[in-house]
Amino acid sequence: MSTLRHEQVLIRTGAHSGLPVIVAVHSTTLGQAVGGCRLWHYADWRDGLADALRLSAAMTAKCAVAGLANGGGKTVVAVPQGVELDAAMRRAVLDDVADTIAALDGAYATGPDVGTTPEDMAVIGERTPHVFCKPAQHGGSGDSSPATALGTLAALRAVHRRLHGTRTLAGARLSVVGLGSVGLRLARLLADEGAELLVSDIDTTKRAASDELGATWVSPEQALTADVDILVPAALGGVLTEEVVPRLRCAAIAGPANNQLSTEAAGDLLHRRGIVWVPDYVASAGGVVNALTIELHKGTPDEARERVEAIEHTVTDLLATAGHRHITPAQAATELAQRRLIGAE
Ligand code: PHE
Repeated sequence: MSTLRHEQVLIRTGAHSGLPVIVAVHSTTLGQAVGGCRLWHYADWRDGLADALRLSAAMTAKCAVAGLANGGGKTVVAVPQGVELDAAMRRAVLDDVADTIAALDGAYATGPDVGTTPEDMAVIGERTPHVFCKPAQHGGSGDSSPATALGTLAALRAVHRRLHGTRTLAGARLSVVGLGSVGLRLARLLADEGAELLVSDIDTTKRAASDELGATWVSPEQALTADVDILVPAALGGVLTEEVVPRLRCAAIAGPANNQLSTEAAGDLLHRRGIVWVPDYVASAGGVVNALTIELHKGTPDEARERVEAIEHTVTDLLATAGHRHITPAQAATELAQRRLIGAE
C-alpha cells in the first residue's frame, strides 16, 4: 500500500456548482500551505484528485527550495469533459472554491493557476482572505505569470552557463513547448535577448505571436525532440514520458510547466542519457516568490524581482552540487527541500 503523505485533503461536491472541488494540503511544516487553483477538464474527478496530490507535494518542495516560509497545497476543480462554464457557473465554482478554502481555516491559501485569473482571485476573495494575486485594485499583487517567466529565464541562465560558460542567452538555441501566459512571456524575453527560438503550441492561432517574435514555428512533437541547447516545457504536465525521453536531442531541460516527468523512470532515463533536467518546481517558483514577497512580506516590486532573479543562484548551486556528488539536480533539489523541512521541525 502506498502511504498518504498529505496533511489533509478536502473533497467536496460544490454546493453552488455541483462540481468536484479538491483542496490538497500537503504540508504546513514551513508555514501556511500555498498553491494555485487549477480549473481544468478531466475525464474522471479522480484524475483531478491525482493532480491535486502531485501538484500540492511539488508546491511544498517549490516553497522549501525557494526559501519561502510556506508549505504546499493545491486546489483542483475537476470540470467534466465537454462541459463549458458560463459566467454564472464560473461564479458558482469560485464560490465553492472559496467556501472550501474557508473551511480549512487558514491552513491553506490559493492563487491563480491553469484555468484561473487574478479576477477569479478577487471573486474568491469576497468569501475568504486566504487568496493571493488579486488584481492591484483589489489589493493583491496581480498576474503572477510575468514573475514566473522571469524566474524561468533566471534558471535558463544558470543552465546555459553550466553548458557553455556564459549566462547570456544570445545565440543559444531553445525550444519552447507551449505559448500560454507564461510560455509566451518567456519566449518574448528570450527573443529580446537574441536567442534562437523554436516554439510550438497545440493552439495554432498562437502562430501569429511566434511570427511576431521572429521564432520558428514547429509542431509540438518537433519542438519536443528538436536538436537544441535547452528544451523549455511550458505547457501542461507529463510531457517527459519514457517513450519521449529516448528521442530527445536537447542537452538540458528547464521550464515552467508543472509535473513535467510522467514517471520517476523517465527521470532516471534522462539522467542515463546525460540530459540535465532542472526540476520544474525550482524553475517555476518565480510566481509564488513574487506574490508572497509583495503580499506577505510587504516587499517592494524591486525586492520581489531580486528574489525571483535569485533562482539563477539556486539553480547554479544545485547544478554544482549535482556535479560534485554525481547525483541528479533533482536529487540535489529534493535533499535541499528535505533539509529545510527537517530544519523547521
Ligand atoms: N500557480 C502558481 C504556483 O503554483 C502561482 C501562485 C502564486 C500560487 C501565488 C499560489 C500563490 O506556483
